[in-house]
This record gives sequence, structure tokens and C-alpha cells, in this order.
Amino acid sequence: MEQENVTAVKSWFFEYCRLFYSQDEDFQRNIILKENHTVNVCDNTKRICREEALDDDQVMLAEVIALLHDVGRFEQYRQYRTFKDSISVNHAELGAQILEDYEVLAAFYPHERAMIAHAVELHNVYSVPAKIPEDIKFFLKIVRDADKLDIWRVFLEYFNQPEDVRASAAGLGLPDRPECSTEVLGRLAQQKMVRLSSVKTLNDFKLMQLSWIYDLNFTTSFRLLFERDDINKLVATLPQDKELADAVQVVREFAERKLLTAGSSFDLQPSGVFAGQ
Ligand SMILES: [Fe+2]
Repeated sequence: MEQENVTAVKSWFFEYCRLFYSQDEDFQRNIILKENHTVNVCDNTKRICREEALDDDQVMLAEVIALLHDVGRFEQYRQYRTFKDSISVNHAELGAQILEDYEVLAAFYPHERAMIAHAVELHNVYSVPAKIPEDIKFFLKIVRDADKLDIWRVFLEYFNQPEDVRASAAGLGLPDRPECSTEVLGRLAQQKMVRLSSVKTLNDFKLMQLSWIYDLNFTTSFRLLFERDDINKLVATLPQDKELADAVQVVREFAERKLLTAGSSFDLQPSGVFAGQ
């Protein structure tokens, strides 16, 4: 991968973001939310890559995927005023389409172009598909970890802000009622990810976010999770309840175990990622 292509795509991305800047305060907050999210996902990605000892080419590729992963969010918000895919559009597929429409990847080698486009298009699927090539799978896992780590930051900021300054689309319009759904609590306790379709309240949504821990791939991601104290911070926003505390304990112990088995994520790295270059 050529460094100048990476530099050029960064310039393109930030200019593209500026096309959506608005005088409308709420609109602007939602655009900035996604622009800042992107910058943080890039930082998380670089951190994962460094600590997982990837080479320079791999780091650049991972960084470009991180930069572009949510490029569809801006057009999604402009057209539908929401970040909820189920009532608007699949923002990942829209993102891949935008990359084509603007010919953003034209300067990259064909195999790089294909990897970036696929990773952008698939970054939001419920789980990594088993049948995709190993090299795409590997980069998909990096961006999905980096994305989750920053979504936790975004929501913790959101929950801790007074309503009038919140980026309105971040909460997905869920009712802030005191209860959690039994189904959602059950999934968390069974070490399974919660699907957005079963989320009924803001509390369910917080539990769904905790359940994403089961989908983290890299030891560095668990390290960052504990470094940022995100489990405790998320739990602090939830009601105190025995069943809930038990479910949270399951996820906490899962994450602690993953951290203790450090080193195993090196197995994820495919050999010959760049074969055929
Ligand atoms: Fe996304």
C-alpha cells in the first residue's frame, strides 16, 4: 500500500464530512459525532495493530478501512435524520456504494480496493460471516473491535450529557424506562450477543452494548476495555438489580478470562495476507 494513497483518502474523507456541515445545531452535532467517532476508531485501530505486531502495509490497510467504515452515516443522516438502519438504510452498504460513486479507491491496488470495500460493507453485520476469505475476515475483526470500543465511549458520553446538548440520533429514540427485558438479560447471562431487534428500552440497549464484549477478537481490545473501565461505567448507568448484577458478572468474568489468555489472538493473523500483490 502506498502512503500517498492513504494521505489522499484521509483528505478526501474530511472534505467529504465538511459537505454535511450545517447551521442547524442538532444536525451539526450528529455529523460531528460521526466524524469524531471515525477519528477515534482510527486511533483504536492503530493501537490494536501496533500491539498485535502487524506490519506497515497491514496497519495502513486497517487504518483506511477504519477511516471509511462509517462513510455511509453522513448521507444516511442527511436523507433520513436517523442512525437507525432498520427504519432507513443499511449504512454499511450505503458506504460501500458511496466509495464507488466517488471513486474513492481508484488509486489503490485492485486487491486492496476489494478488501476495503468488503470490510466497509460488512462491518456492521451481526457476526463475521464464516464463508468470506480469511484476509478480509482478519481486517473486518480489527475494525469491528475498534468500532465497538469507540461506540462505548460515544454512549457513555451521551448518557452523561444533559438532554438538550445530546446528539439526538445517538440514542436511537429508545424509551428510557427502568426495566430490562428478560430475553436480553438471558442472552447476556448465556454469553450470547443481543440482537438490536430484541432491544425495547434504553436499558436493553446498554445491555446489548455489554453483550458486544462476547464478539471482541483481540487481546488488545480487552486490554483497552479494562483500561477505559467501560464495563463499570456502563453498569453505573443501569438500575441496581440482582438478576442484572449476575448477568453482568458473567460478561465481566468472560472479559477477564480473555485478558488472561493474552497472546492467543496472534493465531487470528492469516499467513500471506498480501499474497498475490
Ligand atoms: Fe458503522
